[in-house]
Amino acid sequence: MSIVEKFMTMEYGPAPEDPREALAWLDRHGRRFGHFINSAWQAPAAGTYFDTADPSTGEKLATVAQGSAADVDSAVKAARAALPAWQSLTAHARARYLYALARQVQKHSRWLAVLETLDNGKPIRESRDIDIPLVARHFYHHAGWAQLLEQEFPGYAACGVVGQIIPWNFPLLMLAWKIAPALATGNTVVLKPAEFTPLTALAFAHLCQEAGLPAGVVNIVTGDGSTGEALVKHPDVDKIAFTGSTEVGRAIRKATAQSHKKLSLELGGKSPFIIFEDADLDSAVEGLVDGIWFNQGQVCCAGSRLLTQESIADKLIGKIQDRMNTLRIGPPLDKAIDIGAIVARVQLERIQRLVDQGVAEGATCWQPSIPVPSQGLYFPPTLLSNVHPASVVAQQEIFGPVLAAMTFRTPREAVELANNTVYGLAACVWSESINVSLHVAAQLKAGVVWVNCTNLFDAACGFGGYRESGFGREGGREGLLEYLEPAWFKNAPRVRTTPLAMDQPPEQPSDFAAPPIDRTVKLYIGGKQARPDSGYSIEVHGADGRLLGEAPLGNRKDIRNAVEAARKAEGWGRATPHTRAQVLYYVAENLSQRREEVAGRLSAVVGQKQAEAEVSLGIERIFSYAAWADKYDGAVHNPPFRNVALAMKEPIGTVGVVCPADAPLLGFISLVMPAISAGNTVIAIPSEKYPLITGDLYQVFETSDLPDGVVNIVTGRTSELMKTLAEHDDVDAIWCFTDEAGAAAVKTLSVGNLKQVFTNEGRAIDWFDVKQGEGRWFLDHTVQVKNIWVPYGE
Ligand code: NAI
Repeated sequence: MSIVEKFMTMEYGPAPEDPREALAWLDRHGRRFGHFINSAWQAPAAGTYFDTADPSTGEKLATVAQGSAADVDSAVKAARAALPAWQSLTAHARARYLYALARQVQKHSRWLAVLETLDNGKPIRESRDIDIPLVARHFYHHAGWAQLLEQEFPGYAACGVVGQIIPWNFPLLMLAWKIAPALATGNTVVLKPAEFTPLTALAFAHLCQEAGLPAGVVNIVTGDGSTGEALVKHPDVDKIAFTGSTEVGRAIRKATAQSHKKLSLELGGKSPFIIFEDADLDSAVEGLVDGIWFNQGQVCCAGSRLLTQESIADKLIGKIQDRMNTLRIGPPLDKAIDIGAIVARVQLERIQRLVDQGVAEGATCWQPSIPVPSQGLYFPPTLLSNVHPASVVAQQEIFGPVLAAMTFRTPREAVELANNTVYGLAACVWSESINVSLHVAAQLKAGVVWVNCTNLFDAACGFGGYRESGFGREGGREGLLEYLEPAWFKNAPRVRTTPLAMDQPPEQPSDFAAPPIDRTVKLYIGGKQARPDSGYSIEVHGADGRLLGEAPLGNRKDIRNAVEAARKAEGWGRATPHTRAQVLYYVAENLSQRREEVAGRLSAVVGQKQAEAEVSLGIERIFSYAAWADKYDGAVHNPPFRNVALAMKEPIGTVGVVCPADAPLLGFISLVMPAISAGNTVIAIPSEKYPLITGDLYQVFETSDLPDGVVNIVTGRTSELMKTLAEHDDVDAIWCFTDEAGAAAVKTLSVGNLKQVFTNEGRAIDWFDVKQGEGRWFLDHTVQVKNIWVPYGE
């Protein structure tokens, strides 16, 4: 054989990673693990265990405890007991523990990587070079946040005991994304790893012991969905953080609705991978390999929908197929393997079922002619073309190495196709034109956009979704906020249910001998005063029982019209912050012009003193949000790659606002103004006690250059209107600041499209206190951060 022939036929030899260390650790535990509670191994109360196996061979690796409600309870108790001492440590002391954990991860990096690969089936190249280094980076970064916590988040406090539930696709990395920010902010943790991949969480328990972490600060309870459910339902858990399927995310939203648990959800995705004709196609194809075949495609942000500009589609498909023919699929411990095993048989079957369904719906399936092991759970890299945008494989998360290819002609069509999904986790844009890339990136509904790169993650850059990909972020400053609350909030009293008492009766204006002209207050929809669809009005009485007037009885139809108007006004989000600031200042100016009449009318309900305070503080508060409009902006992160990540604060979209009863004007202003200052459009249900404030508000808005539809107001029976608003799929977030029942109702009713929820949890907020009634806490709920990663250099 000539050298040339040898070169052409050269095969990779096997390059297996040695698993003995990892297996020896399992052996030291007798291949049997209890839960890790209070820094000790604890047998499950019910004595039940289950096996975890290597998906590449089917061999059993170990037996782990199946957590019951009793086990969860014991872990929560340990976390609760550990909380005071953990919180009384200095920030610096907590930083030292996080630093120690980062070091532990580094010192044991190969052991962790091998264990991860054994349990999950992912290529060692990925667990060794991506997962574990990112885990260490996460703990380092958060050691820093622990150190800076008091300086950077003054007035904030930890949630308390946090329940965390993670999936099987990045077991240790997801653990790090959950535990590091929770500990850095002073919470204690009960974490449940996924049933297919519990081992690295148990290895991490070992590292906690090595690092000398105080007992009870981190507890690990293993088990399946029922264990997760017990954790979600436990009454003494203050926050739930979940990563997994949208279906379970929905169930958790429902299960926590009647409680005051804070919630963050990182759910599924169907992320577009958009390639324009001017892209560097070879780089794009390499990107695609990482985008969809990384971790066998079992990645929530996988670039599973390929959108190619029509002019280059054939050429690109050819290049992709050539590249697919060089992918190596096989034993994941082999260092030269690209694609490892699928995590479990049920997942393998699910992938096959979806691919079959795609073919039945007309897609063409292409798989490379590369050897695929006959034993173990393997699925070959797969390309589906001729995919219809509405078909199952274009819409459902497959969570496997399957790419669904479609084409587009113009950037506008690319954006439409890309956004044609209920998800919004990530997106990739490939184009050599920075203008096209950033223009498209700005329009994509996704929490992360990678320009000319893919699947890059960093602890400093928040990660999380829009729409049904969930809410909340992991990483960065915004990730920490998920584990913090304003310190005053936890101990705020419950909302008063007694009617507001007048401090003194309003003086009758002396020059009004004749009866006043009947005043008609209408709804305010799309910039127009509108009669209610029902044709009915409801009486509004003052604090002394006197009839003050009638407010329109809005119904579902009025809410729907208001939502439509708000949607149409979304251009407000693209107006410059300076423009929005100017409009808000003008609103304040016009309210100031009417201050006497507004206060006069309001005084019949809340008394003169409060009415005057509501107007003057209201004007001041509008000034505050006018001021914030061009200052509450994003950040530029410098992740440890040749990249910048532009953390853009984008408005959430259309926000339903249910206003508090007790401060009809100031409550409205305190919620609606931050929302619109950030570029959202609003449908507001004003104070049920004094809906007539609507008449004053729209007169102010009409004279203030506020574009039609940015603020819409529907009066009526709050509970009925709120229901339609919370259920409406075109509403992106619902805020409710009435009472405990209101908070529970909006959480339950919002599960349909998993809209973001912000409530007072039934607690009384002192709207007259600037510390409680205004500022960053509200602003933080007006935006979602989109990280746009842009590489630089040749
Ligand atoms: P899953 O959502 O059922 O599991 C994720 C975690 O939630 C696991 O720890 C599980 O034990 C726990 N869990 C299950 N039911 C629960 C409940 N009712 N209450 C509390 N915790 C519960 O995901 P699964 O079944 O493993 O995978 C199914 C599909 O979900 C995948 O094919 C994929 O499409 C999607 N998925 C998405 C992930 C993501 O990162 N976005 C991760 C894992 C799965």
